[in-house]
Amino acid sequence: MSQYQIAVVVGSLRKDSFNRKLASAIVKLAPSEFSFKQLEIGDLPLYNQDDDGQQPACVQRLKAEIASAQGLLFVTPEYNRSVPGVLKNAIDHASRPYGQSAWAGKPAGVLGVSVGAIGAALAQQHLRNVLAYLDVPTLGQPEAFIHAKEGLFDTSGNIGAGSQAFLQNWMDQYVAWVKKHAV
Ligand SMILES: Cc1cc2nc3c(=O)[nH]c(=O)nc-3n(C[C@H](O)[C@H](O)[C@H](O)COP(=O)(O)O)c2cc1C
Repeated sequence: MSQYQIAVVVGSLRKDSFNRKLASAIVKLAPSEFSFKQLEIGDLPLYNQDDDGQQPACVQRLKAEIASAQGLLFVTPEYNRSVPGVLKNAIDHASRPYGQSAWAGKPAGVLGVSVGAIGAALAQQHLRNVLAYLDVPTLGQPEAFIHAKEGLFDTSGNIGAGSQAFLQNWMDQYVAWVKKHAV
């Protein structure tokens, strides 16, 4: 088993999501001691505090997957200048009941790709705000505001040549961050 298991949360449920493609491609730039698993968030009900005492099986599964990971990777689009509701819903679920958050202390990285020129920058900033409250130590630099342009991925779904160096550096910094903060 890899020494560092990373729980990957993609903020889009779209079949051809650029963010899911990015999440799948960038992990190939990580060293072999890291393994990555994309978490299912599309089957979660809308969060309702009334259910805190009896969280459904899908929420328990999500929390267990986060708990067993040494790090987190969020890859999200921007919806209306913030994070998509599906991502916030998943974050809220795994943060509860109060005092039993699955997120606390897990080192994280944040990435986002958008068809807009600012590359999901505002969604990422909003997400960082939420993660700060949840006591998730989040890699500050390099930021990665990625514009979904022709050539971002090659025909095999790997990171395209023009973005390789930038995203390899991002991954190297992320790996170092997780190693520094993983407990
Ligand atoms: C409801 C909605 C709101 C959006 N708002 C923004 C936005 O605020 N900024 C932006 O750059 N793109 C916005 N977009 C465009 C997304 O960046 C684009 O749909 C992107 O492909 C979504 O990510 P995905 O490919 O991973 O699903 C929005 C798209 C939708 C569906």
